[in-house]
Amino acid sequence: MHDITARAMMIPSSTRSPNFAKHARWYPTIYELRRGAKKRLPHFAFEYGDGGAGDDTGIKRNWSAFDAIEMVPRYGVMPELPPIGIELFGRKYSAPLGVAPMGSPIVVWPGADKLLAAAAQRARVPYTLGVAGGATIEEIAKIAPDVMWLQLYRFAKNNHAIGFDLIRRADEAGVHVLMLTLDVPVRTVRSREVKVGMGGGGTFKPDWRMVMGMAKCPGWAVAFMQNTLPRFANIQPYAGPGAGLNDTIKFARKEMGGAFSWDEVKRYRDRWKRPMIVKGILHPGDAEKAVSIGVDGILVSNHGGRQIEALPAPIDCLPAVVRVVGGKAKVLYDSGIRSGTDVARALALGASAALAGKAFLWGLGALGSDGPGHVVDLMMDELQSALGQVGAHSPDEARDVMVRHPGAYDFSRNVL
Ligand SMILES: Cc1cc2nc3c(=O)[nH]c(=O)nc-3n(C[C@H](O)[C@H](O)[C@H](O)COP(=O)(O)O)c2cc1C
Repeated sequence: MHDITARAMMIPSSTRSPNFAKHARWYPTIYELRRGAKKRLPHFAFEYGDGGAGDDTGIKRNWSAFDAIEMVPRYGVMPELPPIGIELFGRKYSAPLGVAPMGSPIVVWPGADKLLAAAAQRARVPYTLGVAGGATIEEIAKIAPDVMWLQLYRFAKNNHAIGFDLIRRADEAGVHVLMLTLDVPVRTVRSREVKVGMGGGGTFKPDWRMVMGMAKCPGWAVAFMQNTLPRFANIQPYAGPGAGLNDTIKFARKEMGGAFSWDEVKRYRDRWKRPMIVKGILHPGDAEKAVSIGVDGILVSNHGGRQIEALPAPIDCLPAVVRVVGGKAKVLYDSGIRSGTDVARALALGASAALAGKAFLWGLGALGSDGPGHVVDLMMDELQSALGQVGAHSPDEARDVMVRHPGAYDFSRNVL
């Protein structure tokens, strides 16, 4: 463990992926990666990763809330680009950005969890393995020993036997940060997922449309042949000897569910001795509660618009959460990040770091195994440029930037 911590404090001088220039010619922004992913992926894979709840209104709101935020630059203060490295929960990272947890990113690109973890390790930015993901804690700990975080859903049966065993495994594997997801109290319908046959959390039964889609995308088909589809890889050991893919899916769906209560969060807090984050906070009252339980971090998020579409854009809730937390915990951000400039906006509104989900899937879709690294490179460059443009000498200094934020929530009133 000491070894791992010591290594984690060292950031390599260049984290840039070797093919950056080649890819930047065709994909100079993350917006372009999304267009590329749509063209290159089997239809079902793109729809699964890209779609949100209802009619995608929540996703659109997340994006337009970011677009509405303006930062007023100060000039004459920035002779060269600023450094963007940070220290977070006692570790050094090359930038205040990272990979949000995802269950089944392997549907978008087979082998995705491992590719995302490897890119994050190379760049020295946080990687969060989704507990419902396609690789095990132990596998990812080998690939991303310096940057690995673990997200957990609620496995409450038998007095949290599976949940507690998962965090025991995480501890043994050297996972640095535990993240409990609070914002999935219910299952919601994502129509684009349902329409391509991926909805309802059911077992995996590819229909002829999916097979045709795979056949039309050689890169995806090769990745599929090189990787199995181990959905819920972390849960397989609990599903009984010889449990196949669909047995494990059924078992996981039965065991996993509901959102953590605050009492349960407290129990995890008491057991997990390293930094712990709660994910999905939007209301400052919930942030206060989490701080009172002793969490180290609060991730302001609306699950990227994948839960009901009436939720606010989290970026509009961020300043109120930051105010109430008042430095007693780190406030992190996700939902709607499509550029390093968006990361700069989140920092300007008080976040210590921002994570992205879909942006990384678009990278995978457009560029396959090179995609996650390209997304990190683009975000790092754009963040550095954005800070340079507005005159912030470091990620911390972004908070001093003058911001116009028309959508900011005022929690002192029930109706705005
Ligand atoms: C395909 C997909 C699967 C996801 N699965 C999980 C999950 O298993 N657990 C979780 O806490 N969040 C999950 N999320 C939400 C992300 O962690 C994150 O909150 C969201 O993607 C951020 O918004 P963005 O996609 O706009 O960046 C998932 C997101 C996507 C796109």
